[in-house]
Amino acid sequence: MKNNTIIIIFILFGIIQLNAQKLIHVETKSTSLVFSVQDSKLKQAYFGTKLSQLDDLTKNGTIIFDAYSTFGTNEVNDIALQATHADGNTSTEIVFEDVNVVKEEDNNITKTTIRLKDDYYNFQVDLIFKAYYNEDMIEQWTEIIHEEKESVTLYNYASSQLSFNASSYWLTQLWGELENEMNLKETELTQGIKIIDSKLGARAAKFATPSFFLSLNEPSNENSGEIIGASLAWPGSFKLGFEIDNYQDLRVLTGINPFASQYILEKGEKFKTPSLIYSYSNKGRGELSRNFHKWGRKYGIKGGDEPRLTLLNNWEATYFDFNEKKITEIIKDAASLDLELFLLDDGWFGNKYPRNNDAAGLGDWQVNKLKLPNGIGHLVEEATKEGIKFGIWVEPEMVNPKSELYEAHPDWVIGQPHREIIYRRNQLILDLSNPKVQEFVFNSVNDLLVKNPGIAYVKWDCNRFIQNGGSPYLDTDKQSHVQIEYANGILKVLEKIATVHPKIQMMLCSGGGGRMEYGSLKYFNEFWPSDNTDARQRVLIQWGSSMFFPALATCNHVSDVPNNQTGRSTPLKFRFDVAMMGKFGMDLQPSHMDEDEFNFSKKAVSIFKSIRDVIYYGDLYRLESPYESNRVSLMYVEKEKKKAVLFVYQIHYHMREFFQDLKLEGLDPEKKYRITEINLKDGIKSRLSSNNKVISGEILLKSGIKFPNKLREYESLVIELTEEK
Ligand code: GLA
Repeated sequence: MKNNTIIIIFILFGIIQLNAQKLIHVETKSTSLVFSVQDSKLKQAYFGTKLSQLDDLTKNGTIIFDAYSTFGTNEVNDIALQATHADGNTSTEIVFEDVNVVKEEDNNITKTTIRLKDDYYNFQVDLIFKAYYNEDMIEQWTEIIHEEKESVTLYNYASSQLSFNASSYWLTQLWGELENEMNLKETELTQGIKIIDSKLGARAAKFATPSFFLSLNEPSNENSGEIIGASLAWPGSFKLGFEIDNYQDLRVLTGINPFASQYILEKGEKFKTPSLIYSYSNKGRGELSRNFHKWGRKYGIKGGDEPRLTLLNNWEATYFDFNEKKITEIIKDAASLDLELFLLDDGWFGNKYPRNNDAAGLGDWQVNKLKLPNGIGHLVEEATKEGIKFGIWVEPEMVNPKSELYEAHPDWVIGQPHREIIYRRNQLILDLSNPKVQEFVFNSVNDLLVKNPGIAYVKWDCNRFIQNGGSPYLDTDKQSHVQIEYANGILKVLEKIATVHPKIQMMLCSGGGGRMEYGSLKYFNEFWPSDNTDARQRVLIQWGSSMFFPALATCNHVSDVPNNQTGRSTPLKFRFDVAMMGKFGMDLQPSHMDEDEFNFSKKAVSIFKSIRDVIYYGDLYRLESPYESNRVSLMYVEKEKKKAVLFVYQIHYHMREFFQDLKLEGLDPEKKYRITEINLKDGIKSRLSSNNKVISGEILLKSGIKFPNKLREYESLVIELTEEK
């Protein structure tokens, strides 16, 4: 993330006058979002493909789409804002006040703030839009502030309201559960309201990811059609609402889930909503994903342009059952495979209540002296000796009742008095609305990093959600703030960690992919999308994740067979080829491999290193979807189109099922490419007829590549395409 934003121009417009109409243009390279002021009310006049001139936009008559609807004056549909004012008035009527436009960072970002004010009360709503010109992305959020005599209660406070007029609306959502994350489901919206939400507070994306595609007029396609992709950057409870009204128009409201979360806003206090990050395309889902990936790498993810480290994680190798000797051996094994980092997972801490299983120790972030008598520092030294880096797992937002932390601070956990305590994974959640708890969480990680300066990487986990959501810290009349304050609290801690330790690489984990969203990712280099490491199912999970998140942030690990989660066995090469489509790592005991497996793995790691830049920074083209085909394929194309990597996975074998030649995408038709199948097992020859041949981009794009018809179940190919002059 670039924090050093330089404001180079500051223009206070008042109102942009275009042909005597009051129009506000939020524009990116290919998109226009236009607002108009009509009888003092702010309306959404247009959202779609870039307009070259706006003059005639409002000549079609009255614009009906409210830019930010409020309760109490004209509510027929769900509204963006509902507030009870200090005198008890439950209505709000906001009128346009002014607009200011600021250019940031080499002119690529334009920040437009539209100020709206209540007609009567001293109550102000700012709608803020950051347009990222080259990435074709818009970030939108809302800020509410008032100077009324006493507090105002907010009942609805959307981040964004967008309206659409199309013949039909097709919503793609991402749903899931632990070990089955990121499933795609597309449905046509019907009259009424469809809501995708989370009420979980922490680990909020466990069942649903706060991201969606909305395709207009037809179901979504990879390469055609009008479509919007959007992602709410917020680690807490969220609500995405889609309402088709009596005119067949669609209103989309997004933001924090206001469910049981009314917010008492004090005089002068600012309520800032999370951002909705969105993009429009008339070329389908593929382009939207590429926009998200580009934006994510540049603005959305910590160190989006920094190199990532291939790693070995010991979770599936040992679970809680390890000691210094075992870990030292695994570190050596990781180094001999030429991996670049060893990641020590759960189980290294707690003395009075040792963390030997998930029932004890969380909260006591001191090294377990029995398991690791020479401390973390010694393991860091071992890793350094082997020429690799060292990383460590933490879950600092949580506490086991069996811990010294809980004994000392039973009032630091979220819960309601007089109610039975609800445990999940035997743990409770710390009350991050409390600044003292925030400090404790920061210190737990900070101390670890300060005492062991060799630690290069932290896996930050969060394994439960909020239930019995009460805070011993918050005032009695502000108990409904607990979820919002929790989310703000964790973001504050993460921000501080990132500021104090900018060099530490961070992995975001939440029992797998329970926190896959851009609010947190700002502080993380990468994320763990699922505890399910079965390569067959991972194809789907990673496919889903690729919709909004770039490959370099998606951690994919090769694990042992039969797979610990599904019991399925897939060939080692398949497991490698699947893990290579993102940020590569391993999660197994290398000493369990035979010589052939070890040699293959070592070679595969070096092959991955030779192609990773194309995967990490290239443009993704999804070719054959696991939802539609037993043969799945995707490719990454480097910016200059000189190199590309194609992955093909046969996820199911069906006798006498025939596949078409595979037309590639993203290549330069004018260039010629050498086709090389890589990552083959020693002694195995490529079955690809085009292997080692030079073929024009045009033929590859228009006619395609031929594959052997009988690709057996779990056969896979990695193909490198290199420009040849
Ligand atoms: C969660 C994570 C796993 C692992 C365990 C450790 O389930 O998703 O990867 O770190 O916790 O307890």
